[in-house]
Amino acid sequence: MTRETEEMLVRQAYEAQERAYAPYSHFMVGAALLAENDRIYRGCNIENAAYSVSNCAERTAFFKAISEGERDFTAIAIAGNREGNPGDYCPPCGVCRQMMTEFCGKDFIILMAKSRTEWKICTLGELLPESFSL
Ligand code: THU
Repeated sequence: MTRETEEMLVRQAYEAQERAYAPYSHFMVGAALLAENDRIYRGCNIENAAYSVSNCAERTAFFKAISEGERDFTAIAIAGNREGNPGDYCPPCGVCRQMMTEFCGKDFIILMAKSRTEWKICTLGELLPESFSL
């Protein structure tokens, strides 16, 4: 992936973060998922008064893409921070890692942004080794 693509995905994750609905945790997350055909699907976290109903930004992006027929993915950028606080790298939660494993191989790229100009890159295989699948 080129530096330009990384920058563009991170920028899209921050745009998605603006839509986050997080009145309970005030932790705002945005994600931008790049499909192999170069389409991008954005997602934000969507919380609920019944907390367990809440959905992470990453899964929102995946659910949008999968429900539109996408099956092949290259990378996801994630940006998250508590409202009013400076950002830090935002690793995907365990549930999202497992969800990614359903559709992505171990080389799927995960960009964890700290700001629009700083991010860490790793693979799904690094974040969820020995993962379970059928
Ligand atoms: N959250 C995400 O959207 N993605 C993650 O990978 C970690 C957590 C959301 C869920 C909840 O709305 C808020 O962040 C605090 O946990």
